[in-house]
Amino acid sequence: MQILITGHCGYIGRVATRQALQAGHQVVGLDAEYFGGEPFTHAKLRQMRGDIRDVQADDLRGVDAIIHLAALSNDPMGALNPGLTEAINRDASLRLARLAKSVGIGRFVFASSCSIYGVDAADGGLLDESARFQPVSAYARSKVETEAGLGALADDAFSPVYMRNATAFGVGPSPRFDLVVNNLAGGAWCDGRILVMSDGTPWRPLVHIEDIAQAALCAAVAPRQAVHNQAFNIGRDDANYQVHAIAALVAQAFPEASLSITGAAGPDPRSYRVSFTKALTGLPGFAPRWTLAAGIAEVASFLRSGGLKGLRFDDPHFIRLKALNAAMVMGELDPDLRWTRAPLAT
Ligand SMILES: NC(=O)c1ccc[n+]([C@@H]2O[C@H](COP(=O)([O-])OP(=O)(O)OC[C@H]3O[C@@H](n4cnc5c(N)ncnc54)[C@H](O)[C@@H]3O)[C@@H](O)[C@H]2O)c1
Repeated sequence: MQILITGHCGYIGRVATRQALQAGHQVVGLDAEYFGGEPFTHAKLRQMRGDIRDVQADDLRGVDAIIHLAALSNDPMGALNPGLTEAINRDASLRLARLAKSVGIGRFVFASSCSIYGVDAADGGLLDESARFQPVSAYARSKVETEAGLGALADDAFSPVYMRNATAFGVGPSPRFDLVVNNLAGGAWCDGRILVMSDGTPWRPLVHIEDIAQAALCAAVAPRQAVHNQAFNIGRDDANYQVHAIAALVAQAFPEASLSITGAAGPDPRSYRVSFTKALTGLPGFAPRWTLAAGIAEVASFLRSGGLKGLRFDDPHFIRLKALNAAMVMGELDPDLRWTRAPLAT
């Protein structure tokens, strides 16, 4: 099977690409390469440097399925310029989907997010795929609106699938340290301090990047009737954690670090506990492997063994918003996040 993976140079994309190649698929990668990273080559990998806003039908030649990961990938980036999040995350995604449908690509796996639920269920129970959307950021709204737009395209020949991923953790070839688990571990290692800026009470469902990648691949190859126009929460029921509990687990992995829960950032409205039963029972082949404790151990080992390569965890290299801002300040990216010169070599 030939799979187009957009955002294949990102945190999840590199892992998804590796897994797809290991499974024997041909992969076409498309990425604007905002964040550089180690080059990777493979006989069955064709890579395009480009913007999802510019994809042409020709780029999709021979593709059987799309795993669409490219996006401005978190809340702070949405806050930078909500219009850009709409243009890239929603409008370009829907344009790509329409183009895919027009050339006969039948499967479109979309990286959505559990953040679309926004706030906890009134009864404190787990939110399943039928729960009400209460997005509290431009990023989460872009995912809600894209799911709706993709749903309108679904028909006998075109099957969108919505992967509502929990918040990712873990080590990959292009690691991020702007996500809660990795961020707390990064602070523990670099500063000897685990600093929680909220009051620690918000709930976050968590999932390892390898399990997200596995789920996306399962959705790309599943029989149509199992996934057609379906949403799946991606994670595991035993990985809904309050932030203070995440911090306590990180503290166990870094006994030399101090833990403070400051509450300085004020209340965090984002808090949601999610049910993952549907994917575990209904997404053929999906079996998440990583517990949070195992993931923290992996991140700790990465940090202790020099994985940051002399940089701090909060260097722009590892923080998506900082990387984009730095490239804009340097004039390398224009305000529309278009390169003003050839992208950095990977
Ligand atoms: N990481 C998480 O915790 C998480 C959770 C839920 C959902 N998701 C979703 O999963 C997807 C991947 O997340 P990630 O953590 O790998 O993010 P990432 O920022 O590491 O990777 C995104 C990739 O997309 C590329 N990209 C961005 N805009 C582009 C454009 N206009 N054209 C072409 N390429 C572009 C970037 O260069 C980058 O390589 C995103 O859609 C994100 O919203 C991530």
